Amino acid sequence: MRVLELRQLVRDHRIRYENDEPTIPDADFDALFRELQDLEAAHPELASDDSPTSEVGAPRSATFAPVEHTVPMMSLDNSFDEDELREWSERVARGLEVETDAEIGYMCELKIDGIALSMRYEDGVLVQAATRGNGRVGDDITANAMTIEVIPKEIDITGGGPRVLEVRGEVYMPVPVFDALNVAQEAAGLPRYANPRNTTAGSLRQKDPSITASRGLAFWAYQLGQVEGGPELASHSAAIDWLGELGFPINPERRPVPTFDDVIAFARHWHEHRHDLDYEIDGAVIKVDSLDAQRRLGSTARAPRWAMAYKLPPEEKTTTLLDIQVSIGRTGKATPFAVLDPVVVAGSTVQMATLHNSDQVALKDVRPGDTVIVRKAGDVIPEVLGPVLDQRPADLPEWQFPIDCPTCTHTLVRPEGEAHTFCVNPLCPARQQTQIEYFASRGAMDIEGMGEKVVSRFIEESLIADVGDIYGIDWDRVLELDRFGETAVRNLQASVDASKARPLASLLVGLGIRHLGPSGAEALSSAFGHMDAIIAADVEAMAAVDGVGPVIAQSVADYFASEKALALIEKFRAGGVNLTGPERSELPQVLDGLSIVVTGSLENYSRDGAADAIKSRGGKNPGSVSKKTTAVVIGSEPGASKVTKAEDLGVPMIDEAGFEQLLETGVVPGVESDAEPEPDAD
Ligand code: IVH
Repeated sequence: MRVLELRQLVRDHRIRYENDEPTIPDADFDALFRELQDLEAAHPELASDDSPTSEVGAPRSATFAPVEHTVPMMSLDNSFDEDELREWSERVARGLEVETDAEIGYMCELKIDGIALSMRYEDGVLVQAATRGNGRVGDDITANAMTIEVIPKEIDITGGGPRVLEVRGEVYMPVPVFDALNVAQEAAGLPRYANPRNTTAGSLRQKDPSITASRGLAFWAYQLGQVEGGPELASHSAAIDWLGELGFPINPERRPVPTFDDVIAFARHWHEHRHDLDYEIDGAVIKVDSLDAQRRLGSTARAPRWAMAYKLPPEEKTTTLLDIQVSIGRTGKATPFAVLDPVVVAGSTVQMATLHNSDQVALKDVRPGDTVIVRKAGDVIPEVLGPVLDQRPADLPEWQFPIDCPTCTHTLVRPEGEAHTFCVNPLCPARQQTQIEYFASRGAMDIEGMGEKVVSRFIEESLIADVGDIYGIDWDRVLELDRFGETAVRNLQASVDASKARPLASLLVGLGIRHLGPSGAEALSSAFGHMDAIIAADVEAMAAVDGVGPVIAQSVADYFASEKALALIEKFRAGGVNLTGPERSELPQVLDGLSIVVTGSLENYSRDGAADAIKSRGGKNPGSVSKKTTAVVIGSEPGASKVTKAEDLGVPMIDEAGFEQLLETGVVPGVESDAEPEPDAD
């Protein structure tokens, strides 16, 4: 019977989901759950107390002690479009016996894609933190929750604070933290984590709290549980404001709104802008704001009637893995990638996705012919999560990494202890092509017009074979090529000429030396002042430069030990390319030890210009705000997450005029300097 089958499926998938091993996308799970709900609603005779539709979540795990929730941790009913949300608001109006939605009053919140947590404070002290579990009994994860920096361990209850306070909210992993974790995983040759939500779940379920502590988890409070004492609260929005005053992180995007039209505007806004946030959301949650109205509406066995989730369309899809191919990068790295039956994910068509390396393919165990789950990691890079094993055809063979380079047929090599496999033929055309494209890219020599097609044609026509040849191109010959018009050729020539004056650091970046990124290249070019001095420097001298270190130093030394690299440098010299680093800064180092973040556009400085102005005065210019940030310079259209972070951490924010003052004096306008300590409070 379908209803029994659906119950079993929902139960199984819930357990897999809670164990971080989902085998179907969230949207498919929602569809199964919805089908079961609809079937039970249409046939009340099939209703059963042990149906997963009357349970809140998955059963608890055996590792942690049980915690019985004083107030059950309910789930939410889901709506998947505006009509369903409107139907809910109409049900609410009927339940409250009001004529129009304007008499209701709603609180709109983001639906944070993380793990629900309930925290109990007694006499102002955090005494227990528990997961939702099955809604009635959860897991005691106090020791792990204690390591989350933003969670208050104590609250101020002087002046009539609550004797007992239960705060509920969502633990989540910010996307930049998740991405950094995966970079570290890859560097260590370990498998990538699938998504921030599952990683949060895994991080909270560690037996060793120091692992949880290292995961950079964050938290938003969105609901009260049991409360004894404290102020009289009339609305949910007032309750959240109060939690904010007590020191809990509360989400800045929440909006108490008067009408259902405002609710729709909120839902539509986040449908469009979900990726403006640096954490993942899977929808919005709309709550009736008045606490009295909430009491009158009550709950079903599973979810409150006064709240409704508005789920955003899935960012995961399933499709067929047509093939696994291997591409050769500029360093010769052979990267396997998935060729997919084209599928639209998060608004764009995906037909290829990286599989990183052979270990990842083996770990994910994806095979050509599989149905695979595809998602957009950070919603930009498509990623294959894994196969849908239930749909694997019988006897599908495992995929084998190729033995030879698919471009030049040289045998591929996997160095011992490395996660990656390489084509070691320096003349491999695929390597040359990607190396030249990289050299010409914006982050390196910025040669406009020297894209994939032009590079490939120039190689084909033997106009260039390596990056050094760019500065000796015979432009008259280019003019003779078909599809190369006079204006386009002259523009390309002008871009090549202009690139000769690019800073030495850009040239170093363009060489594609392993481990050497823009900041290392900048450090080397300022420390040694000339390409020849870098070539002549020994490993120790380079490793002693601030921001370089032994790994980069060794890699740079290895690179310049080759005849081929030295021949390239001679081609640059002959072509008139700048090999000289920046003049040693004569400016007073007033920003020494300070860290200044810039967000938004400034009138008088480009992004690079502002960075130069900071660095040439001894300051640091990181890309994100942290506790260590001295000040954030706010230009026009600043990044919302940087501003919020600065507000949360109390980092001073200054405008462009303040920035100029800071560059001159080294003192953040409006902030007392260390030289003038505050007088003692008593
Ligand atoms: S309120 C009684 N508000 O969504 C109402 N939940 O699918 C309890 N969630 O278990 C939940 N953001 O883990 C609420 N702003 C928000 C939320 C939120 C995310 C999660 C929460 C809940 C799940 C239900």
